[in-house]
Amino acid sequence: MARSVVTIDDLSDQELELVFSLADDFLARLGDPARPHRIRGRDGLANEQILATLFFEPSTRTRFSFEAAMVRLGGSVISSPSSGSTSAAKGESIADTVRVVESYSDVIVIRHPSEGAARVAADFACVPVINAGDGSHEHPTQTLCDLYTLRKERGMKSLKDFSGLNVVLYGDLKHGRTVHSLVYALARLGARIGLKSARGLEMPEHVDRRLRRDFHCVPVATEGAEAGRDMPVDMIYVTPKGPHQQTIFGYVEAPVELKSVLSEVHVFYVTRLQTERLQDGAGRETYQKVDNEFLKKKSYKDSRVMHPLPRVGELGYDLDNDPRGIYFKQAAYGVAVRMALLTWLLHLNKSCPPPAVRETEFPEFCHQDGTKCENPACVTKLPSEQQYLSPAFWVIEHEGVLVLRCKYCEYEYEVRAVGRASRRQFTDARQWKSIAKVDRVFFANEQSAQASGYTMDNS
Ligand code: NCD
Repeated sequence: MARSVVTIDDLSDQELELVFSLADDFLARLGDPARPHRIRGRDGLANEQILATLFFEPSTRTRFSFEAAMVRLGGSVISSPSSGSTSAAKGESIADTVRVVESYSDVIVIRHPSEGAARVAADFACVPVINAGDGSHEHPTQTLCDLYTLRKERGMKSLKDFSGLNVVLYGDLKHGRTVHSLVYALARLGARIGLKSARGLEMPEHVDRRLRRDFHCVPVATEGAEAGRDMPVDMIYVTPKGPHQQTIFGYVEAPVELKSVLSEVHVFYVTRLQTERLQDGAGRETYQKVDNEFLKKKSYKDSRVMHPLPRVGELGYDLDNDPRGIYFKQAAYGVAVRMALLTWLLHLNKSCPPPAVRETEFPEFCHQDGTKCENPACVTKLPSEQQYLSPAFWVIEHEGVLVLRCKYCEYEYEVRAVGRASRRQFTDARQWKSIAKVDRVFFANEQSAQASGYTMDNS
């Protein structure tokens, strides 16, 4: 299997640094002197390479910047004119599509409405697959553009400088895939993260769980914080640098860091309402427009306003000529960043280390009797994929809590009971290691074990 980029976690810190320094090189060599974020020239690095774009959802920036990146590298691009014009419209599965397209190309960029679709593509393709957005799950290359833009704007020397940033993520935090990739990256790099969502569009519970568990983020409610009136956010995550600070955050009065987030927002990251993923009209009435008026408080004086675009009413045009608005630069940097990513993934620059395949650290769980992923938007729910794809999970145990994470969409949920299929008996989930892998079945709780015909093991 080739090295793919499906989530932002697929890239280590060193790899992020490498991609960013390659992007710097491209801008230095091929940048437009009149508009320094824009690539103008062409390189011959990818002369023999073909990039295939498989977009099953609309796109302007991601698709064009990937295609432009490959063309600027001297390579070629194949793609379909619209999402309805591939055999997916006839019901062809993702696995079959990529096993065909891999024979015509050297790298596949995929965007799909189902969460986990890009992981399925990566599992079946023998060429690298890049996730250009899978439902509400992740959009890792947008995060690369976001981080790179910040690094340039703030003249950062290394990733360590991100730990000095106060970033507020605003809007539809429930469905926005850009903010999901971004929040994991910011947490990993130690930034302080404020969340401000429209009502009913808060960050999903499983994302919050990962922030706390995997990145040791400590959530601090802003309620009652002195400066809270000045910059109301719903929640702030801080990354303690040591166990001592961990005790201070959240339990005693608002720490210095918290006050600094509230009084100086370095980055205000706006996202649109993801109407195509809304079940109900949630959030519409509380979605405040971000414009000059919104940003007139002192805490936004030197903020940088970012947006993955498109904007559809939530970001005022009056910010276009305001030095705080950097969203068009953010889009422009996409070409250099994606040239860099392709260069690294396809190992076009032999002086860079080749991308090695990374192993997952968790044990896998997959059972014929069918534990299903609880995320209705998961790729394993599609009839076209169910013909060959069985739900599969990573088993994660942390501080006495056992969680199943879908291997595809990464949705997580807690399990409290584990069953022995051969005896149709269940016990407390923490006993899971005592049951052989092939015999093991997980249940959310005792009731769901009983509903599946399992009885309590009292031995
Ligand atoms: C985003 C996307 O598709 O997730 N756009 C992009 O890739 N720049 C954001 C959005 O559609 O809201």
